[in-house]
Amino acid sequence: MKTPVQIAVTGAAGQITYALLFRLAAGDFLGPDQPVVLRLLEVPAAMDSMQGVVMELEDCAFPLLRGVVTTSDPRVAFENADYAFLVGAKPRGEGMERKDLLEVNAQIFSVQGKALNDVAHPDVKVLVVGNPANTNALIAQRNAPRLDPSNFSAMTRLDHNRSVSLLASHCSVPVTDIRRVIIWGNHSSTQYPDIHHAIVGGDRATSRVDRQWYETLFIETVQQRGSAIIKIRGKSSAASAANAALEHMRTWVAGTADGDWVSMVIPSDGSYGIEPGLMFSYPVTIEDGRHRIVQGLDIDDFSRRMLAATEAELKSERDAVAALL
Ligand code: NAD
Ligand code: LMR
Repeated sequence: MKTPVQIAVTGAAGQITYALLFRLAAGDFLGPDQPVVLRLLEVPAAMDSMQGVVMELEDCAFPLLRGVVTTSDPRVAFENADYAFLVGAKPRGEGMERKDLLEVNAQIFSVQGKALNDVAHPDVKVLVVGNPANTNALIAQRNAPRLDPSNFSAMTRLDHNRSVSLLASHCSVPVTDIRRVIIWGNHSSTQYPDIHHAIVGGDRATSRVDRQWYETLFIETVQQRGSAIIKIRGKSSAASAANAALEHMRTWVAGTADGDWVSMVIPSDGSYGIEPGLMFSYPVTIEDGRHRIVQGLDIDDFSRRMLAATEAELKSERDAVAALL
């Protein structure tokens, strides 16, 4: 048996983590021969509720679960952490944009970035789920100068999966026939779901769908999917977010499939003209735990405008939290 890995999860009494923790403990992330220790962080007021989740984890008798640490101190939660799922943050309600959460959530990520810097494993892989995810990840990363910036990421895998599902259903093919969709930019309503390079079966996606459907319905549906779920469910997406978080981390460890890529928010290196340092969603391939931005894709005028809009929003979010960077 391998040595247990340390997995930190914040917001452990929340609705996303309720769908995530049991899968982590069951081996859905790192496989059936990798024991795990869960290191759970909550605010003091939610410690009882988190304890209830721990009781349920115990009641599953998961063979791979070698320990659960519960705490309200980030320095305890992140001690020697190999992986950190930063989920804990306030979700938006109906009528809000994700960036409306900046003020209330930003502070969390500066505190947690510092704690990761001080106590996490030097190769820790960090995923920020809490919104506004890109800018929260930027805050965490900037507060952790000891760690390689490329260890920090934020989640657009949910938007990526939404795009795959919508395109597959529109083309009446299984989701496994879809490859190479891209989410560019911010996990917000300015994100750019791009199918110019996507493949449906053996065909280019652009030859299988009507341009007007793509430019109006497809893009807007993906951009607004989070809002649509809040409106109809009364709460923001949870199980699909947990699934995307698990897939994001699993792909980061296991690598991308041959001939495919995934979307991931990582620090920009200037690729595609995006300002270096911004946490921007790119198409990436992953090998040996390292992500690489897919290079050389043609960007037409329409795409260029969409990239510029989402980059501008990220710059304004960054400027709004300058004091924390
Ligand atoms: P929730 O309110 O059900 O749970 C959040 C939990 O975080 C709560 O239990 C709260 O006590 C805890 N928390 C708050 N501050 C904390 C801190 N400083 N340290 C540790 N825990 C803390 O919310 P949820 O529905 O699970 O959503 C969590 C976040 O994820 C929200 O910001 C939501 O908008 C975001 N989200 C992101 C995506 C994405 O695709 N990136 C998808 C869905 C939701
Ligand atoms: C989502 O995309 O479902 C989440 O970011 C929640 C939200 O606020 O939309």
